Amino acid sequence: MKKLIAGNWKMNGSLAANESLLHALAEGLADEAASEIAICVPAVYLAQVQSLKKTVARLAPLGVGAQDVSAQLEGAYTGEISARMLLDMGCRYVIVGHSERRQYHAETDVLVAEKTRAALGVGITPIVCVGETLMEREAGYTEEVVKRQLAAVVHANGHCISEIVVAYEPVWAIGTGKTPSPEDAQSVHAVLRAQLKAATDQFSRVRILYGGSMNATNASALLAQPDIDGGLIGGASLKSVDFLKIIAAAQV
Ligand code: 13P
Repeated sequence: MKKLIAGNWKMNGSLAANESLLHALAEGLADEAASEIAICVPAVYLAQVQSLKKTVARLAPLGVGAQDVSAQLEGAYTGEISARMLLDMGCRYVIVGHSERRQYHAETDVLVAEKTRAALGVGITPIVCVGETLMEREAGYTEEVVKRQLAAVVHANGHCISEIVVAYEPVWAIGTGKTPSPEDAQSVHAVLRAQLKAATDQFSRVRILYGGSMNATNASALLAQPDIDGGLIGGASLKSVDFLKIIAAAQV
């Protein structure tokens, strides 16, 4: 299974900044077929990224994704963006249940499961984020929290669960420069793998990414763990040099 290195731009970028970032990435992306690469961009920039992909040949292998999707199919939901619209814009991926959405937009496990279903319904791969807060970790609840978050998604999606990507993102590691040791991250990934195994025969198709302060320096050690199948990268995905180094770390 190829590793997946996915950038999450979060609420960053501008037409000018995106264009220069993508041109810089294109320079380094030649012949990088050993892993899959994707960027999840603000929805307003999907059209720009798709049009750059058409004109810059080396961007062709880059998968494009969004950062959120409505659980609803269509209709009177002001401000929401449906899975079908994301498909229309050429999205291959969509992040669901990012901790920033759980925290600032009160997204529940059930809503995240419904959003996952909406994405799967149109053939977009949801990147389902799970992860514990610092308080939960310190209280010894890490396993319980990530299992509960994933269980909701499994419950609502049955055997289709084999089509998702999971991202383990400890909340305390996001944007802080702190990371669990590769072994600690691996042990949570192993728990998630076992849970997927219990849910589907096809569990080996499901990639489990690590996210949270992954950077050019720590990527190799994290990606070398047996159950870490890639990375979901925030800050470092906005710097072409760093993102390319992480992509290179995934090749070995
Ligand atoms: P950072 O890489 O900036 O810590 O963000 C991780 C993340 O939240 C990716 O979704």
